[in-house]
Amino acid sequence: MSEILNTSGEFYFAIFGEYSIATYNLKNRLGVKPADIDAFAVNFDPRNMASNARILFALRASINILWSRYNIPPPRFKTPSHIIIGDYLFFARLFVKHVIISLNEEVPPNIKIIPVYHHLTHAASAYYFSGYNSSTVLTVDGYGELESTVLWKVRNGEFEQIISIPANIGSIGLLYEEISTKLGYDNMEGPGKLMGLAPYGKNSQYYEKLKSFLRIQDSDDYPYYFTLDGTKPKASKTNFREPYSKIANLIYPHPKVPWNPRGDLHLDAVNLAWAVQKVTEDLVLHLAKWAKDHTGENKVALAGGVALNGKASKGLHYSKIFNDIFIFPSANDSGGPVGAAAYVYEHFLGGKMQHGRLKDVYLGPEYSDEEIKKVIERSKLKAEYIGDDVNAVADLVAKGEIVTWYQGRAELGPRALGNRSIIADPTRKDYWNTVNDIKGREWWRPLAPSLLEENEDDYFKDPVPHEFMVLMFYYKDEDICKRVPVTCHVDLTARPQTVSRDINRTWYDVIKAFKDLKGEGLVMNTSFNLAGEPLVETPKDAIRSFSLGGFDAMYMQGWLIKKK
Ligand SMILES: [Fe+2]
Repeated sequence: MSEILNTSGEFYFAIFGEYSIATYNLKNRLGVKPADIDAFAVNFDPRNMASNARILFALRASINILWSRYNIPPPRFKTPSHIIIGDYLFFARLFVKHVIISLNEEVPPNIKIIPVYHHLTHAASAYYFSGYNSSTVLTVDGYGELESTVLWKVRNGEFEQIISIPANIGSIGLLYEEISTKLGYDNMEGPGKLMGLAPYGKNSQYYEKLKSFLRIQDSDDYPYYFTLDGTKPKASKTNFREPYSKIANLIYPHPKVPWNPRGDLHLDAVNLAWAVQKVTEDLVLHLAKWAKDHTGENKVALAGGVALNGKASKGLHYSKIFNDIFIFPSANDSGGPVGAAAYVYEHFLGGKMQHGRLKDVYLGPEYSDEEIKKVIERSKLKAEYIGDDVNAVADLVAKGEIVTWYQGRAELGPRALGNRSIIADPTRKDYWNTVNDIKGREWWRPLAPSLLEENEDDYFKDPVPHEFMVLMFYYKDEDICKRVPVTCHVDLTARPQTVSRDINRTWYDVIKAFKDLKGEGLVMNTSFNLAGEPLVETPKDAIRSFSLGGFDAMYMQGWLIKKK
């Protein structure tokens, strides 16, 4: 296989990330055989890790492989020795073999695994899909092999590392995770929820205490660092998390905030969330200024888990430090393999990446009209074929029905962008609670809007087209917010998707038809899944979730299904 990008900008292979997308595309869309693949890129390079971290990584990889749902044979005799020497790449190779077996394909004799430095994979994902030739790139993360935050200057595909902050010295991601733990959430789900909780809080002792452990500086040394004793810590190759759990304990000495996240808001919970969010915003802004001074570039591309903090990126947008911002939509580690593959293609395999701005991420599996019809017939639900004329769907939404929406290829990354969505009337204030309730989410969590691209100026303060729901904007004023209360958070912000017809025709048409009925070119859009479940994937998933959830109707690739 000589290309990872075809002319429409689709990418086709990656491992340890969006596994289902990679394997589906390989087999069903491209007809690529495993023997045709030149290399498999991995978004960590364990050779850069401390030896005990390497061993831990190899151990985790072996456990993940054994526990995974694929057709895994028992570990080989040699496996324990690979754990002892920390040979993570052995497990990467093993995993690739099992992926190939699970596709019922023959395993080729030589599988080439190429590890890429973790922050470089994030940087490559941001740079190659930004459309920029030269730019600043910021990769802000929990941790990679050793680092948490790296600043790059990239020109013509050459990545120059300007500064790299070790994870024990300046990890915004780990700090955020530790504060999330205090609120009773785990590392994965916590940060996103705290970002939504923060606007209910205010400046308090927690922010002041948190700031006392932080040093922000303009010098050529690190732009910032966290300190427990006032001195600059030395870089450590292990125990990345320790300084942040100590800081979290010093700020809030109790094991957990005594609250029920589904009950009343708790003052400590909201003020802790406010504090860690404000520190994140302060640091991202400072990092951006520092980066501009040190690279001279006027465009910035971002990736890494912290790049999913749309509130911090909002500050960057309104600051005008850079003329243009691109955030890779799958900015966390699920998108790292994409960057790894792009980097390997250009820097190891002699290819040349096309430079274009990523406009959509409908890159996952899709199902034929025939398959959809069969699943609907088997469900015995009342369905009518309406094709692409989605006026009837808009009519139901305008009448107050909560509608699930399923069509085409699933989205890459954490957001539903009109192919696996739930839509509702944004003018119905009570739907904020209703929709959160259906999805089993805490009542205070915000819901996002999808709007016609040409209407963005009618709603938002100084917006730019943004297709991926990873950047927030302020609504223009409180009156506009009151018109669409379901999609306006308490700080008058939203994380919108701007929709153009050439990218998703029926999705645009349903919003347009809603506008014709209710006067608002904007609908509420949240991911189509039930409480504690992943985004629906197959037509069968969609029918099941639709039937179990409190939805009124579903548009499913041309079919309108009603419960009543
Ligand atoms: Fe990462």
